[in-house]
Amino acid sequence: MNSSVFSFLSEFVFLLLLFIQIPSSLSNDDLYTACRKGFVCGGISAGFPFLGAGRPSACGIPELELKCDHEKNITTMNISQVAYRVLEINREFKTLRIAREDYLAGLCPPQFMNSTFNPKVFEPDEDNRNFTLIYGCEDVPITIPPYSTFKCKIKDVDGQSGYIKEGDYGPGECNGSVIVPVPKLYFPPGLNMPALEWKTSALEVKLKIGFEVRWKFERECQECYKSRGVCGFNNVTSQPTCYYPGMHSPPEISL
Ligand SMILES: *[C@@H]1O[C@H](CO)[C@@H](O)[C@H](O)[C@H]1NC(C)=O
Ligand SMILES: *[C@@H]1O[C@H](CO)[C@@H](O)[C@H](O)[C@H]1NC(C)=O
Ligand SMILES: *[C@@H]1O[C@H](CO)[C@@H](O)[C@H](O)[C@H]1NC(C)=O
Ligand SMILES: *[C@@H]1O[C@H](CO)[C@@H](O)[C@H](O)[C@H]1NC(C)=O
Ligand SMILES: *[C@@H]1O[C@H](CO)[C@@H](O)[C@H](O)[C@H]1NC(C)=O
Ligand SMILES: *[C@@H]1O[C@H](CO)[C@@H](O)[C@H](O)[C@H]1NC(C)=O
Repeated sequence: MNSSVFSFLSEFVFLLLLFIQIPSSLSNDDLYTACRKGFVCGGISAGFPFLGAGRPSACGIPELELKCDHEKNITTMNISQVAYRVLEINREFKTLRIAREDYLAGLCPPQFMNSTFNPKVFEPDEDNRNFTLIYGCEDVPITIPPYSTFKCKIKDVDGQSGYIKEGDYGPGECNGSVIVPVPKLYFPPGLNMPALEWKTSALEVKLKIGFEVRWKFERECQECYKSRGVCGFNNVTSQPTCYYPGMHSPPEISL
């Protein structure tokens, strides 16, 4: 078959499929309009690949859903089941500065959860180092200096000992451990401060300031932006996709 006829036919079939699928949901034009709207809350604004507050699931990555607390004027999101306060979103660098909600009030969280990041959504973390908070210890190892220890109420038992340590650790003899990222910039090269020198109070402050993670995607969107489309997400192919305004423009194109 003549290839241009073939391409015409396949485009025709593609359009047909599009129109068969779409009537019950949003049209491409609606998706363009919906996904053009940014998320705005407090000092935070975001577009693709984020969802939330009026940006429907077709506009971004399911794992990147923002939520606005209008009363407190703050943005929050869950990443791998851990709740974070969103402190900054930088589209140019594709960075998200976040702080764990459970550590904003101190070092004793109601539940123990490690910070983990889906490698399909986030770039490998080169900006942070891990710290482990270890909870509910009978005895804190004698190698741990007193300023790296703290006390928490765990399972209704007050005054249980814990300590902090740089790196990824399990709870060992103690009752639980939580791994949290801390920006590398607090560890200037050359200073070579041993992790054990870290004071609990310093960690508490750093956890409130938060750390940065980098999201993937959007490289795929450059062509889309150039042709004045808006980037969205196809939840069937799990790939970014482009929406264009108006009926005469190309319909949804997988990138
Ligand atoms: C919410 O925060 C933003 C940025 O910090 C500020 O400009 C805005 O006035 C605040 N709105 C309310 C209702 O507090
Ligand atoms: C995929 O997106 C469509 C609308 O864009 C929505 O109706 C459907 O529930 C989504 N499916 C999943 C698995 O998220
Ligand atoms: C995070 O998850 C909790 C419970 O699973 C839910 O109640 C909360 O609304 C979620 N927060 C966000 C920002 O999605
Ligand atoms: C930090 O710990 C998490 C969870 O255990 C792990 O996935 C990640 O690779 C660690 N990051 C670094 C920089 O060691
Ligand atoms: C750890 O938890 C167990 C079971 O809840 C409890 O019996 C034990 O006393 C706890 N250990 C410490 C050091 O609190
Ligand atoms: C965190 O990760 C460590 C080691 O990777 C594991 O031993 C520990 O149980 C985890 N903590 C929680 C609360 O899942």
